[in-house]
Amino acid sequence: CSNSQSTSTSTNKTEEKKEEVASEPIVIKFSHVTAPDSPKGKAADLFKQLVEERTNGKVKVEVYPSSQLFDDDKAIQELPRNTVQLIAPSTTKLVSYDPAFQIVDMPFLFTSDEAVYKFWDGEGGQILSQKLEKYNIKVLAMWANGEKHFTNSKRPLKKPEDFKGLKFRTQTGKVLDEQFAALGASAVPMGFSEVYVALQQGTVDGQENTFNNIDTQGYAEVQKYLTVSGHGRLDYLLLTNTKFWDILPEDVRKTLEEVIAEVTEQQRKWSEELNRESYEKLKASGMEVYELTKEDIEAFQKAMQPVYDKFADSIGQDLIELAKKANE
Ligand code: LMR
Repeated sequence: CSNSQSTSTSTNKTEEKKEEVASEPIVIKFSHVTAPDSPKGKAADLFKQLVEERTNGKVKVEVYPSSQLFDDDKAIQELPRNTVQLIAPSTTKLVSYDPAFQIVDMPFLFTSDEAVYKFWDGEGGQILSQKLEKYNIKVLAMWANGEKHFTNSKRPLKKPEDFKGLKFRTQTGKVLDEQFAALGASAVPMGFSEVYVALQQGTVDGQENTFNNIDTQGYAEVQKYLTVSGHGRLDYLLLTNTKFWDILPEDVRKTLEEVIAEVTEQQRKWSEELNRESYEKLKASGMEVYELTKEDIEAFQKAMQPVYDKFADSIGQDLIELAKKANE
């Protein structure tokens, strides 16, 4: 009797196991660094919702916002190892793979959101995406955030001279180093999750980011002055591990591609809307806000010319020309 029982138990177990394997979902870990209510955070959550609905549970998406799983540098290293399957770092952070990704940091290069979309959805995006292929990284889409602006705790920044001696947190990269050096200031690169404390403790005087990041990270609590400059861009590439992507069942991959196209459209709308809303919130927060005039911008363009002199070749004249064409 005991024998027959144990046989039946083990048969059940084998069946259960088979069942588990057959119904085991494909898990996509999606790591990012911004707040859940940022344009990227909302898009990541929408991606999860739509993918899980449309694959009937075949795919499970685990979203880790706010650097909970990895900061950007780590995520970029981990993606080719498949410990994470989706990331959406700011394009600047990909400088560790190729200097051309700093094109977004060339001062006052892109003049509108539309130009940025045109560039990344067109030849510019293709050229840059190809640079990641040999690293087992595939570009799935460009997600937007927006123009960057300066904040600091010391004084209103209206003219290039006002930057002298100040320390600014940057994402990474030599182009941003030079941008601040050209203004007589210095750049301190650090991960996004460390910025609030660095501003609070005065390790750095200021930083540059989009209205929405400034707002959702609470920088208004630790920064007095906001200069609306739009001097550079902060946008994202949605990236996956090529090998992981290529072995997905075809129907799953097709569904994911459809969802990404839909989410990307919504994500870009959110980036525009949420940045507008965040700007209003920042104005109401008690920060002292200065919008650069046309003349001010000309002075900054002149002061930042060394960035073009030093980096246009390593970014690539072809890419810079494509960006300018996208502005037309
Ligand atoms: C930053 O580090 O400032 C940005 O890359 C954060 C982000 O992802 O928007």
